[in-house]
Amino acid sequence: MADSVLKPDNSKIDLSPEQFRRFVEAASRAPSPDNNQPWCFRRSGSGIDVLHVRGRALPSDIDDYFSWQALGPAIENIVLSASCENLRADVRYHARPFAESTDGELVATVEFSSGAESDPLAKFIDERVSNRRPYKSVPLAESETAALEQSLHDPQCKLLWLTQPADLKALAKLVYITDRIRFEHQPFHDEFHKVLRYDDAQAKETGDGLDLKTLEIPAFAIPIFKWVRPWKRMKLANHFGLSAMFAGNSKQLVRKSGAIGLLLTTQASDERYLEAGRSLQRVWLACAAAGLAFQPMGGLPMFLTQFARKGRDAFVPEHAVRLAEIVEPFYDLFPAAREHTLVMLFRIGMAPPPSARSLRYPLERIISREDN
Ligand SMILES: Cc1cc2nc3c(=O)[nH]c(=O)nc-3n(C[C@H](O)[C@H](O)[C@H](O)COP(=O)(O)O)c2cc1C
Repeated sequence: MADSVLKPDNSKIDLSPEQFRRFVEAASRAPSPDNNQPWCFRRSGSGIDVLHVRGRALPSDIDDYFSWQALGPAIENIVLSASCENLRADVRYHARPFAESTDGELVATVEFSSGAESDPLAKFIDERVSNRRPYKSVPLAESETAALEQSLHDPQCKLLWLTQPADLKALAKLVYITDRIRFEHQPFHDEFHKVLRYDDAQAKETGDGLDLKTLEIPAFAIPIFKWVRPWKRMKLANHFGLSAMFAGNSKQLVRKSGAIGLLLTTQASDERYLEAGRSLQRVWLACAAAGLAFQPMGGLPMFLTQFARKGRDAFVPEHAVRLAEIVEPFYDLFPAAREHTLVMLFRIGMAPPPSARSLRYPLERIISREDN
């Protein structure tokens, strides 16, 4: 990937220390897989360096594809916040091998010049949230999904939609299959329990991970989650149908949605995924602006991507068989996805606000030590 400059400008503006902190604060509000916040920020001349903290990346990530869907939204939040101060932000993506420092890998640099108009999506940066409640089963109108498409940032991204109950039902079956694999494979189980935060104290202490309350887990079920933390117990519980029960919940949630969206891009490259991450954030913010709840469903596209790239050998045989069986039904539901690269699947709809919000690291932890 060559270094690329979007909208070059010669009259760069130096950020004040307060502006730098404001933009980093906005970046930190971005979503990230399992709330891992794999980012760090540094002042660079007149701009901001965006660093990837590999030590926080998910072990199950494929070529950083999930991390880029967190860094892309963080970058978009910087661009949006800058627009509110009439600053135009130009994003330059760096090529591999990324320059490394003790704080992370240099993935992008954002530079600022004067002349932007305030982007109305910026107002929703703090409101955007993952909402894992059941939504109203009222299909979104075509005009509503078309309006969301207007918010895409990258012309190489595309959104496909399912709104009809029969299609949601068909997709729910595929989500069920991949969710069961998540609960029935020890590496995924261990990864999940490493990021679970069982109570407020633990959530506050770490400032990251998945607070069970944000997962809408009812209080009575929390002891079950704690009990099955050791893989041996989970394996035993799966014999009695626990993985089927958990995956069954996801299946219901897919059906209880106003629409399912699939975000695609043209190529599996760092730059395309980062740009797609920016688009994901814009669509999510546009949903917040429209009063629509949003939940990413990363499992299905992640498994399909892994299966397509690494083949059957990357999975235990019984999971490889199940995954092979869902590829065609998935592309039958989204025929236009065959010529594209999968980015993210998500559900949207009308719902009450989530029971809890996820926390973030303090700014000191995500600002490079050189700037602290
Ligand atoms: C790449 C990516 C994948 C995600 N996958 C899922 C998922 O499969 N299921 C889910 O409920 N949330 C998923 N999320 C949402 C994150 O868990 C969420 O952004 C994070 O916990 C922070 O919470 P917030 O979005 O409410 O700020 C994903 C987010 C990203 C960026």
